[in-house]
Amino acid sequence: MDDGTAFGLPTTSETSLAEAIRARSPRLEQVRFTSSGTEAVMFAVKAARAITGRPMIAKFEGAYHGAYDYVEVSLDSTPMNWGDLSPKSVLYAKGTHVSTATDVLVLPYSEPETCRELIRGNHERLAAILLDPVASRVGMVPMEAGVREVIQDCCNRYGILLVVDEVVSYRVDYHGAHAMFGLEPDLVALGKIIGGGLPVGAVAGPASHMAVFDHTRGKPAVSHGGTFSANPLSMTAGLAALQSYTKEAVVRLNRMGNTLRTEINEQLRRHEVPAQVTGMSSLFRLHLKPEVIRNYRTSFPNALRKTALAKVHLAMLERGFLMTPNCSGALSTPMSNTDVEDLAAALVDAIHETWKQSPW
Ligand SMILES: Cc1ncc(COP(=O)(O)O)c(C=O)c1O
Repeated sequence: MDDGTAFGLPTTSETSLAEAIRARSPRLEQVRFTSSGTEAVMFAVKAARAITGRPMIAKFEGAYHGAYDYVEVSLDSTPMNWGDLSPKSVLYAKGTHVSTATDVLVLPYSEPETCRELIRGNHERLAAILLDPVASRVGMVPMEAGVREVIQDCCNRYGILLVVDEVVSYRVDYHGAHAMFGLEPDLVALGKIIGGGLPVGAVAGPASHMAVFDHTRGKPAVSHGGTFSANPLSMTAGLAALQSYTKEAVVRLNRMGNTLRTEINEQLRRHEVPAQVTGMSSLFRLHLKPEVIRNYRTSFPNALRKTALAKVHLAMLERGFLMTPNCSGALSTPMSNTDVEDLAAALVDAIHETWKQSPW
């Protein structure tokens, strides 16, 4: 069998994607593959309910975790409906059953004591707390240590499972985001880079929790399957991607991300444009405001800024750079320092042009 050298890939001893993940993240003793991150999160939530026998989950205001009804709560709440410091559970898709809102507790991303109070008040019903430590739609700012500590403490204290969504943030550290942020998840959802560009997702965790899916002794507590789960194409592409994403590659890409954000922010300051990029590692997001971004509410763009963001997005497409519609993006391993310089120059130019045409 070809070991990858023909494609110039670094070789490692792992021969499967699951082994490669486990070798990087020893806490993830077992891995079950899905075809998307949405499914990975959904199975993690279903597993948490089955393991704990509790109905409710908690998630952070604004955080995106895919399209499962329960994790779409408070995805696009606005100042009109988001409530006071304790966020209201706001449904997202039309037609979602109203009971979904009662089974989802919404937490503020940067308010540790409010989080503690809300969790304490609901702990007997809470199966899981779902978090992404660098949630893009929350502002793409790392979750503050104080909040992480409260969440981990509440999970330990009340027997609530900690589910970390690393569909995007797995890339921030060779060992995964949970390792970088000192979290001890009960289950982790993975996706995106572990598929090397092909459809993929995975739910992973300690064997004791993953036993909830065990079908070898009759019907499992949670049945998991899927036509394309663990399909050989995604598994092969994913293994190749992880083999390329070595410790050195992670360090290099993270350094390039720092350079990108610093360079853009310095130039925006020099041009006196009220905008900034946030992010960490190889992830970034543009905000058309100068205020410190700490959470979903401080990152929330008003109508004028939303329109301007759409213009920047289009202006970047014209310059050959694809970002998400809310102007976030990720660097990737084939990129060189020159690519990063070009990206920074194009983004500053696109922002400046938009600012001159229609200031926000
Ligand atoms: C943090 C996070 N979780 C889950 C998902 C869902 O993954 P997928 O699009 O593969 O269903 C995404 C997708 O962007 C995501 O960003």
